[in-house]
Amino acid sequence: MKLLVLNGPNLNMLGRREPGVYGQETLESLEQELMNAAAEKGIQMDVFQSNVEGELINKLHETGADGVIMNPGALTHYSYSLRDAVAAISVPVVEVHISNVHAREPFRAVSVTAPVCTGQISGFGFDSYHTAVDYFVRRFSHETS
Ligand code: DQA
Repeated sequence: MKLLVLNGPNLNMLGRREPGVYGQETLESLEQELMNAAAEKGIQMDVFQSNVEGELINKLHETGADGVIMNPGALTHYSYSLRDAVAAISVPVVEVHISNVHAREPFRAVSVTAPVCTGQISGFGFDSYHTAVDYFVRRFSHETS
């Protein structure tokens, strides 16, 4: 089984970007933590970050993963193209957010991508991603048993 962790615009700035909202840890350390957690469960993991909407869409089209953990950044709130890309593939996608998007500016409470995702996990810091990994571990174990 294989997971893809897809991070959108400005998430390469983690650690330096609004640390009061997004924490002090970098994207590299998050990706390493997630790859370690996946490896412990015998799951392969690809990681990809881009500030370019089209590159995220291409990655979704081309992914050979069995599940995707996606933080679309601000694209969450307005990218119909990203939404259509999620809808176009048959792979389950879980949307994650570090911050609680429902407790911030009103525009962040709207996700155009979440309705075509399996679900949304928001507000648990980096644990939002870990929770999504745990979900897929359980889902894959049901699928293979
Ligand atoms: C975010 C929330 C978005 O509103 C914001 O634009 C981001 C990060 C989060 O992980 O909390 O870039 O997706």
